[in-house]
Amino acid sequence: MSTTPRQTVGPQVDHTFQQRLASRTPTRFRHGLVGHPLLTLDAIAQLGTELPAESISAEVGVKPLAAGSAAGVAVPVEDIAEQIRQIAATSSWFTLLHIHQVDRYQRLVDEILDGLAATSGLSESGLRRRMGFVFASSPKAVTAAHFDIEHSFCMQLEGTRMLGFGKFADTEQRERHVKGYWSGDFGRFDTLPEVTAEYEIGPGDGCYIPPYTPHWITNYDNTSLSLTVTFFNDDNEHESLVQAFNTRVQKLGIDPPAYGVAPRRDRAKVAFMKVYGGAKRRLGLQSGEPVGSH
Ligand SMILES: [Fe+2]
Repeated sequence: MSTTPRQTVGPQVDHTFQQRLASRTPTRFRHGLVGHPLLTLDAIAQLGTELPAESISAEVGVKPLAAGSAAGVAVPVEDIAEQIRQIAATSSWFTLLHIHQVDRYQRLVDEILDGLAATSGLSESGLRRRMGFVFASSPKAVTAAHFDIEHSFCMQLEGTRMLGFGKFADTEQRERHVKGYWSGDFGRFDTLPEVTAEYEIGPGDGCYIPPYTPHWITNYDNTSLSLTVTFFNDDNEHESLVQAFNTRVQKLGIDPPAYGVAPRRDRAKVAFMKVYGGAKRRLGLQSGEPVGSH
């Protein structure tokens, strides 16, 4: 990206990012969050003690890059703060989910996304359902291949990792994976998709991870700390609402057209789902799952 028009602690992008977002193109950036007082190892360990138990996910760190729908091997959480502080010496992969439940982290998520809006020229109010996640993982830990439905901004704080991007083989494979996602497999892959890009990200580096884009991460020989903030805008919210609608009617034995095939019907489905409360709850649950994150 070229010069940054304004100071921000979050992704340093400019107006050219609008087109990257609209075209769902992975985009590297720099950020200013390394050493932020809310994001040191000690601060993250403390945050772990303030979140409810269901917002802590702990798995063994070393795992296959593509393991299908098999869940990771859980690590018992006994003293989360101490376990995070000791992460360099264990094989663990901790996710602190929905850190915006804690006020000072909600302010941080807002500061980052308002900054993104200001520097890129996007509308602040268009970046909705904002969420934050912190990841602490051991040397050699792996985030298996998956896709997410959110616009995600992964920001590396400590350690260096390789972030790989892939693509669906064809429309049929994409539809199969999308159906699997909405049926509960969280967007995981049985085999590694064809690689389209690999980015090494170290402290101060970040990457925009578009929705519905296969990706995976492998840690190098050091502990990794990272922050991911996510949002929905009309683009991925509409696609997700149509998919939630389609999943429901498929259970009735109907085979509706996939998102994008019939735009007028898509608009009707979006309008229907927006007034249908269950859809919002389902979207919220799906987007809160730890598996599809970094
Ligand atoms: Fe992810």
